[in-house]
Amino acid sequence: MSRPTIDARDFRTALGSFATGVTVITTRAADGTPVGLTANSFNSVSLEPPMVLWSLARTAKSMPVFEQAQHFAVHVLAADQADLSVRFARSGGDKFAHVALESGIAGLPLLPGCAARFQCKTSFRHDGGDHLIFVGEVLEFDCNQRAPLIYHAGQYALSARRGEMDEPRSARMAGSFGEDHLGYLLSRASHHFYQPVRRQVHALGLSDDAYSLLSLLTLRQTMSHQDAMALLGQGANATAALLADIGDMGLVARDEAGEPRYRLTDKGRDVTLHLMAASKARESEVLSVLGEVDAFALKTLLLRLVREHSADQPDLWAEPDTAE
Ligand SMILES: Cc1cc2nc3c(=O)[nH]c(=O)nc-3n(C[C@H](O)[C@H](O)[C@H](O)COP(=O)(O)O)c2cc1C
Repeated sequence: MSRPTIDARDFRTALGSFATGVTVITTRAADGTPVGLTANSFNSVSLEPPMVLWSLARTAKSMPVFEQAQHFAVHVLAADQADLSVRFARSGGDKFAHVALESGIAGLPLLPGCAARFQCKTSFRHDGGDHLIFVGEVLEFDCNQRAPLIYHAGQYALSARRGEMDEPRSARMAGSFGEDHLGYLLSRASHHFYQPVRRQVHALGLSDDAYSLLSLLTLRQTMSHQDAMALLGQGANATAALLADIGDMGLVARDEAGEPRYRLTDKGRDVTLHLMAASKARESEVLSVLGEVDAFALKTLLLRLVREHSADQPDLWAEPDTAE
């Protein structure tokens, strides 16, 4: 019976719809050289005895070494290890340069900082078409709760829990936005986040804008009136009034040489750092509800959103001399 024709590209695309984690598999060649590659074909096989599998392309440069190796180590990469995945997906060459290695069973090269690691004894090798399937018995493993790196449709991705949640509600008035409207979510989340910090800001006699300005001054040594206007997005008079207010409170000082520039005084620095500590404590409190994995995904997506829409905004994080 003839085999149905399968378009290789379509087949790859279809396989890519199966989201996986990303691993780096390592071993040591007979001469002691560490060898490794990125693989997402890793899977669990058996709990008792503990067994896992992965498959290696017959064309891989590392094939002769893995074919001979008695042991291999599987590293489940954490979300912040995409650079390691890229490095170990290159063919041949010294992929281990400048990587701090630990030593495992039978001298297995172990990478630090992973979500999980499995040290295995090669139990079986099976034919798998253009791949060779390696089945290993797990001799040792370690695991932490780090967010895992995900691979989906040919791209690195993040995992987030779906959670049990009711459908977002709609507004009663036709044409208004619903509970999942991004603008609503961002402002509601920001309001909720800052509420306790804002209380402390106000208790010190500061306005929200004054706190923003003090925070901005921690990013720059000094700032002109013009800088403050641009960064705050306020008019000339409002900015001047704000600078005068926090000046009267002894929080900023004005350097008069040339164009006047403003900087935090010692008192201003202490007050601002105190409020920032409160803000960081609030961050820990809010994110602890989500857990580390979801917190990482949320922050990454927000950072992308902010960066992708910042082209026409002054760059708060630029070096002072290149700042707009
Ligand atoms: C996310 C990802 C998953 C991969 N999974 C596998 C895999 O399971 N098996 C495999 O043989 N190659 C896989 N590769 C490709 C190898 O990492 C790549 O061919 C590498 O260059 C092989 O190294 P080597 O030629 O030095 O042995 C994957 C690449 C990426 C980026």
